[in-house]
Amino acid sequence: MIRICPSILNANFDDLPNEILRVAKNADLIHLDVMDNIFVPNFTFDFDRANEIIEASALPIDVHLMVEKADLAGPKYAASAAVSVTIHFEATENVAKTLAAIRENGTRAGLAIKPNTSIEVVKPFLHLIDMLLVMTVEPGFGGQSFMKEMMPKVATARSWLRSNGFSDTWLQVDGGVSEDTIAIASEAGADTFVAGSAVYKTPNPADMVLKLRNLAKDAHPS
Ligand code: DX5
Ligand code: ZN
Repeated sequence: MIRICPSILNANFDDLPNEILRVAKNADLIHLDVMDNIFVPNFTFDFDRANEIIEASALPIDVHLMVEKADLAGPKYAASAAVSVTIHFEATENVAKTLAAIRENGTRAGLAIKPNTSIEVVKPFLHLIDMLLVMTVEPGFGGQSFMKEMMPKVATARSWLRSNGFSDTWLQVDGGVSEDTIAIASEAGADTFVAGSAVYKTPNPADMVLKLRNLAKDAHPS
């Protein structure tokens, strides 16, 4: 099962409901990047604005929280209509408690790691997550180059999930995913793909989503 999640970071922020409609027929989820200008050097939305976008979206929303104090922000966003809320390991004090609080709302709980964070840190939390996000760029901006050197982390995570009975847990990559790189990530074991500029910087975003899905399907090991 392959999921393609267009990120609207590089879409037209003044008309997000329509930007989402442009990919709606082919995409699975919309990836919403929330940045606070503290955890990352960029700002996107505060909670109220994010909530408006979530409420108005034609597709389910996958929230990627790039904010400090994720122990507070995670449960707050989980109470919105988002279907999935991902917190960063690096921004969270009590990871287990925060993941549980997100799940308590009936929301999928995701755990993300930055490129310099070892995959080993997520191991104690695998039973508490619905999705693991291995960042393939330094979080903060769209349009950066895919870090192929993250693929061993993806492969390790895939083998842990498989061997511990968590094959249903989604394994997401985010950053630099494009026609040129999606097969590499899929081959390593990712099944959930965020793509921002690759989708929204083409004349037909819906076609690109389909293209990415097919490339990922063809390369996936299972
Ligand atoms: C980066 C964000 C990504 C970003 C991806 O910090 O988390 O979701 O939108 O954009 P592209 O696909 O352009 O790298
Ligand atoms: Zn993201």
